[in-house]
Amino acid sequence: MSFLKEIQRRRTFGIISHPDAGKTTLTEKLLLFGGAIQEAGAVKSNKIKKGATSDFMEIERQRGISVATSVLAFEYNGIKVNILDTPGHKDFAEDTFRTLTAVDSVIVVIDVAKGVEEQTEKLVEVCRMRNIPMIVFINKLDREGKDAFDLLDEVEQKLGLSVTPLSFPIGMGYDFKGIYNIWEKNINLFSGDSRKNIEETINVSNLGSNELDTLIGKESADNLRDNLELVDGVYPKFDKENYLNGNLQPVFFGSALNNFGVRELLDCFVEIAPKPRPKESEERLIKPDEEKFTGFVFKIHANMDPNHRDRLAFIKIVSGKFERNKPYLHVRNNKKMKFSSPNAFFAEKKEIVDISYPGDIVGLHDTGNFKIGDTLTEGEQINYRGIPSFSPEHFRYINNADPLKSKQLYKGIDQLMDEGVAQLFTLELNGRKVIGTVGALQYEVIQYRLEHEYGAKCTYENLNVFKACWVDPKGSQSEEYKEFVRVKQRFLAKDKQNQLVFLADSSFSLQMTQQKYPNIKFHFTSEFN
Ligand code: G4P
Repeated sequence: MSFLKEIQRRRTFGIISHPDAGKTTLTEKLLLFGGAIQEAGAVKSNKIKKGATSDFMEIERQRGISVATSVLAFEYNGIKVNILDTPGHKDFAEDTFRTLTAVDSVIVVIDVAKGVEEQTEKLVEVCRMRNIPMIVFINKLDREGKDAFDLLDEVEQKLGLSVTPLSFPIGMGYDFKGIYNIWEKNINLFSGDSRKNIEETINVSNLGSNELDTLIGKESADNLRDNLELVDGVYPKFDKENYLNGNLQPVFFGSALNNFGVRELLDCFVEIAPKPRPKESEERLIKPDEEKFTGFVFKIHANMDPNHRDRLAFIKIVSGKFERNKPYLHVRNNKKMKFSSPNAFFAEKKEIVDISYPGDIVGLHDTGNFKIGDTLTEGEQINYRGIPSFSPEHFRYINNADPLKSKQLYKGIDQLMDEGVAQLFTLELNGRKVIGTVGALQYEVIQYRLEHEYGAKCTYENLNVFKACWVDPKGSQSEEYKEFVRVKQRFLAKDKQNQLVFLADSSFSLQMTQQKYPNIKFHFTSEFN
């Protein structure tokens, strides 16, 4: 197959949702359709189940699963689909944000009874900022839930989306009869009462005909006609360009558990979802069909086996072909590297692969050379952007609990930060190290991994920080800037990139500082150039 055809047949996306909305179940059903797995229950949930075992054992269990589910690839109707896994737990939201830099589109799963939840709001906001095309799947229609129109309103208001339904439910919960597929103009009915069987698809070319009344009963048929009339009058017509630009989000209804509405979603997805998209680097826009290979690291996974301290760096291929044993430039280190066993992913298996194409993910064995965000090329000096750090929510001093192991401790901290587990700040005043995280769970992860992978022990001490604000270095020669650095020294730190960060201890002190130094710019993410 030609290079161009290989690019055009790839769809790389992520499924995002609040925990429990049905992401794992939907993923599994998509893999079943692709023939990549044979039975339900094969995809392990990477959810952290609280309370079942001690937290860190649970985290280790989750890490074991998450390498297997990092990329789930399958073929469907000649299309190569790559699903990038995103952790659902809110303490790992940073991992999800990073994964979103490697997807070309997303599917948002919403629970029909719970509606739009907190985690969905945050993730969709990131997708909106990046104009990532989104399809919404409203799940669990076999249960009683919110009215379809109320839910569509909620999605528009809370998520700031502009939706257009491409399917519409006929009843819900106990009365759930099936789904009218606006996209394909047919009806899918549950067969029998069990609600467990694969549907029967019936073409309905004329909604006004009596045939519809015979199929679902007069009352349901009239309701459906009214609802579809309303859909037609209220929502914009589906327009692929608007969807691809991130301005319009098609909505599907269904029940992942009962495999209902999933095929319709997949059929529409492979037809409309974007093929690999061009990506901005600091220097220029890179197109997938450029001949020369470029890619970037969006995730690093440490090996579970402490005896082999190698890690797997996940690279998204942006342009050109990635070939085994070919030398590539690691731009940040200005070093040529060759990879003799790059891994490609297929369902839950990984295998060594000779050639990969734009849209694909390869896993490269790494002994500590890679950091999240690193760029690989055939020689060109470009740097992909788009993996900013947000201000952490929690801050703690990290102390060495075993003075004989300080080398191991600092190496461990260094590598865990490269993996993106948390952010490290070094105080200007006394050089003390502060770990910032999105969730409290990360402190346990770090402590556990430092001990088991590096043989180092640490303790934590709370530090009262409201927000980390990156200080714009522009104007650093001015008197105002110098005074700020002098007066606020106690609150200043450097991040791992040596950027100056102001650790404000309250929202009030941040405001006062901004007022006192009006010419200094404070940024809430690490990427502001
Ligand atoms: P997540 O990855 O988004 O966190 O959700 P997951 O797929 O694990 O689904 C969460 C729960 O919701 C599971 O039940 C799952 O079976 C159920 N579920 C998913 N889709 C549907 C649906 O269409 N209808 C109904 N009624 N339930 C659905 P659980 O009891 O937590 O887990 P399990 O014991 O069934 O695995």
